[in-house]
Amino acid sequence: MQVKDALDKYGRSPDKLIGAMLAYQNSTPCNYLTEDDIREFAKETGLPESRVHSVASFYSLLSTKPRGKYIVQVCYDVPCYVNDSLNLVKELERMLKAKMGETTEDGLFTLEYSSCLGCCDKAPAMQIGENLYGSLTKEKLSDILTEYRRKRHE
Ligand code: FES
Repeated sequence: MQVKDALDKYGRSPDKLIGAMLAYQNSTPCNYLTEDDIREFAKETGLPESRVHSVASFYSLLSTKPRGKYIVQVCYDVPCYVNDSLNLVKELERMLKAKMGETTEDGLFTLEYSSCLGCCDKAPAMQIGENLYGSLTKEKLSDILTEYRRKRHE
């Protein structure tokens, strides 16, 4: 997808910018927006580059740094925290051999914290792309990661 394609699809008004940037970012191999991308969004929308840049830096769904193919976002809000999300994070870091904020050596997963994912009744929870996972245990976590590793070439 090109920047222009994302804007054609979502619209060029300021309120459509996040959706267009997210769609474009998700189509890139390393899940992030380069400085050139930001300049192009500014040029195509007529918005100041500084404004586009601040949108890209502010929203946690957008990134200006290269990330893995799959973004693993672990909820760290109170309901998940009291339901052992800390151990979930430790387990993820151990299984993926990467710390929170890092990308695995094979470039497949990036670990990030997230605010509430809207499924507190299934705490602890995490999200990979658009898929939500709740009531997580070590076993479930292992199965989920295995499934993503299996479909990495799809
Ligand atoms: S607090 Fe974790 S999903 Fe709401």
